[in-house]
Amino acid sequence: MERVIGVIGGSGLYEIDGLEGADWVTVETPWGPPSDAILTGRLDGVRMAFLPRHGRGHVHSPSSVPYRANIDALKRLGVTDIVSVSACGSFREELAPGDFVIIDQFIDRAFAREKSFFGTGCVAHVSLAHPTCPDLSRACFEAAEGVTVHMGGTYLAMEGPQFSTLAESRLYREQWGADVIGMTNMPEAKLAREAEICYASVAMVTDYDSWHPHHGEVDISDIIAILGANANHARALVARLPALVGAARAPCPHGCDHALDHAIMTAPER
Ligand code: ADE
Repeated sequence: MERVIGVIGGSGLYEIDGLEGADWVTVETPWGPPSDAILTGRLDGVRMAFLPRHGRGHVHSPSSVPYRANIDALKRLGVTDIVSVSACGSFREELAPGDFVIIDQFIDRAFAREKSFFGTGCVAHVSLAHPTCPDLSRACFEAAEGVTVHMGGTYLAMEGPQFSTLAESRLYREQWGADVIGMTNMPEAKLAREAEICYASVAMVTDYDSWHPHHGEVDISDIIAILGANANHARALVARLPALVGAARAPCPHGCDHALDHAIMTAPER
């Protein structure tokens, strides 16, 4: 089966370089328009589809990103593997600004977003115990170069757009065991699973949120400065990935690509 890599780029990653046959395509979905047109092309013989999560010009806030349309549009383009790139705050001293974390767990605290393709008419409950694809995550880890990258971490997805209070930051870090915090990976990961697409998340640490006694409050200008300094590492990771994973793919050994096999409750004919 042919592999098609979808990249959802967050703050600081608005396009990818070196695509052969690069073309911005507009995709319509039943969920409305995605965040932007999608940049398609080939890298090292592998079909790629790049979607800027916030749109070019950063026009969608984390709450207004059309997550369902984004995943649906990538699925319509044949995407089999999604690499999500996003900024995050850190709850751990050792996850320092500038580092990358390959996320393997989530705590979903976002509350004002549509989180499923299913509902009235067709009910499905996919498994989400392991919300990211271990193989794709490993490939992202191996594709990172020139940057400190940590394998595994729990991402707390908050609604935003305001940053956390000090009490929230301490709660997530000390009592909930979260490693990083961000505003966009949920419901993206849930929807990718429902769409039977492998999903990996590369979170770029930009700050220590507000818990750290020796660092000030989160400041968006500091975040933008760190992202600016690290966007080249994210672009390089994406550029190395296709050669690493190749253009052909076997069925996912972890089952990401047949997540619906035992998930649909609604009878096919009623
Ligand atoms: N994105 C980058 N830093 C963040 C933080 N501290 N909280 C939530 N989202 C973030």
